[in-house]
Amino acid sequence: MRPLTAIAAAIPLLAATACTGGDLSPGLSTVPPDRIAGVEYRAVSVEHDGAKVAYRYPAVPNAPALTREVRTVMAEAETEFMTARNAKDADDGPAELRQDAAFLAAAPDVLGVRVRTEHKGGPDPATTWTTRWYDAESGDVLPWTALLNGEDAVGALRAEVARVLRDDAGIAEEKLPKEFRSIKEHAAAPGAASPSPAEVDPRKAKKTAKKNAGSALADLGFDATGGLVVSLPPGSVSAEAAEQARGALLDGESRDGRRKGGALRVPIGGDAGAPLLSAFGERAAKAARKGAGGDGDEGSGKGEPVRVAAGGAKGAPPSSIDCGRVPCVALTFDDGPGDHTGKLLDSLDSYSAKATFYLLGQAVKGNEDVVRRMTRTGHETANHSWKHDDLAGKSGGAVADDMKRTDRVIEKAGGEPVRSMRPPYGSFNDTTAANVGHPVVLWDVDTLDWKHRSTKKTIRAAVDKSEPGSVVLFHDIHRPTVDAFPETLRKLHARGFHFVTVTELFDGELTDGKSYSRRK
Ligand code: NI
Repeated sequence: MRPLTAIAAAIPLLAATACTGGDLSPGLSTVPPDRIAGVEYRAVSVEHDGAKVAYRYPAVPNAPALTREVRTVMAEAETEFMTARNAKDADDGPAELRQDAAFLAAAPDVLGVRVRTEHKGGPDPATTWTTRWYDAESGDVLPWTALLNGEDAVGALRAEVARVLRDDAGIAEEKLPKEFRSIKEHAAAPGAASPSPAEVDPRKAKKTAKKNAGSALADLGFDATGGLVVSLPPGSVSAEAAEQARGALLDGESRDGRRKGGALRVPIGGDAGAPLLSAFGERAAKAARKGAGGDGDEGSGKGEPVRVAAGGAKGAPPSSIDCGRVPCVALTFDDGPGDHTGKLLDSLDSYSAKATFYLLGQAVKGNEDVVRRMTRTGHETANHSWKHDDLAGKSGGAVADDMKRTDRVIEKAGGEPVRSMRPPYGSFNDTTAANVGHPVVLWDVDTLDWKHRSTKKTIRAAVDKSEPGSVVLFHDIHRPTVDAFPETLRKLHARGFHFVTVTELFDGELTDGKSYSRRK
C-alpha cells in the first residue's frame, strides 16, 4: 500500500515547509503527511465581501475524533473571524484567514497535530499555533498538558523554560515574557526524583489545560531526537532579545527555519525534559523521533507509512465537525434533482458548503450523473419517496415498498447509503413512521419558496430565520430558489455559520421512525 503521494504533491506548501521546519511549523519537528497512511486533506475556501477564508484539515483514517477536533478548531477560528468582520467596519481588521495543519508526531498509537492560524491583510496580521494529541489506544483527543506528568510537571516545565531563557539565552529577567518572570525553583524541578510517569487521565489533562489557558507552554512538541521543545510565539520577547536568544539556542536543525520576528524555539534538554513526560508523553516523544515511524530512516530509504491503529475509533462520531461548538445549519433541498440542480451545486461548491438532497425516486431516473456529483462532492442524498405521494394515506407495506424502491435508485446512482427520509408535505402518521425504515427529518425553517417563487423572499426567510442547529427547507426544482444562491450562503457565512449535512448536524444520532426538525 502506498501513501497518497498524489495528495501530498497537490499541497506543496505543506510538504515543503513540513520538512524544513519553516513557515508552517517553525521550531517543532514535523512529520510529512505522506508518512501517514491514507491521510487526505479536505479544503474549505470561501471569498466574499473582501474577506478570504482558506483552510485545509487532514482526515486521518482510523482517527475520526482527531479529524473532527482539527476541523472544529479551524471552524471556530472561521466563525470568530467572520463575526468580528461583521461586527465592525470590515476595513479595520485583517481581510484574510488562512489555516493549515502539520503533524508533530506519528505512530500507530499516537498522533500530534499543530494547527496554524494566520490573519493577513490588515493592520494586525498575526499567526498563532495550537496543538492537539491523539491517543489511538483510547480514541481520545488530548491537549498539550497530556504530554506532561501532571500539574507539577507543568510548573517544572515553566521553571525550566524560564531558566533556559535566562541562563542559556541570556535574556534579562525583566525582559522575559511575564509568565516566566520571578519563578522560584520549582518543587519538582527537573532532575529531582519525580514520580514514575502516569498514564494520562484525559479529564485531568483537560482541566490542567484550562487552568493554564493562554500559557506560552501550550505550543509544545519535540525535536527530531524526541527532546521536548517549547515554541514561543512571535513577539513573546523583544526583537532584540529574540535575535540574541536565537543565536544562543538554535541548533543545526532549526537554523534553516530561522526567521526574524518568528517563533522562538526553546529546547528542553533530555535530562530536564524526560522526567517531565507522562507515559503518553513518552509515547509521543518516541513517535516524534526521526526513524521511529516519523521521518523515516534516513539512508535506508523510507519505510512503510504509519498506519494509525483502529482500536480507539469505536463509537467515534460520524460527523467531521462539532456543531455543539460552532454554529451549523443543514440546508435541505426537496423534490429534485431538477434542471437547475447543477447550478445550485456550483454555488454550494464555491462556499465549500455541504447540503442534503431529499430526492424523488422518479426524478433520479435520467439524472444519475447529478446524483453522483452530489455524493462525490460530499453532499448527502436522502429519500423523499418515489413520486411525492402522501404517505399518510398508504398502508405500512406500501410505505415500505415505496421507501425501498426509492432507496435503491438513489444508492445505485450516488453510491452512498440513504440515511434519512422526509415525507412529502411533511405528512406522516404512526403507520408511516413505523414503516419508513429511516429517521424522519422535517425542518424548522420553511422558506415557502414553492409558494412565492421569489428569490428575494427565499433569501430573506433563510437568512433571517436560521439559527444554530436549524434545518432549512428549499426546493431546488424552482429557478428562483436556485437563484437565491450563492447570496443565501454569503449572508449566512457572514454570520459565522457552517453548512453541514443532516447526518453531521445531528451527529449521526438519528433513530429510524423518529422525527426531527432541528438540532436541539
Ligand atoms: Ni416535496
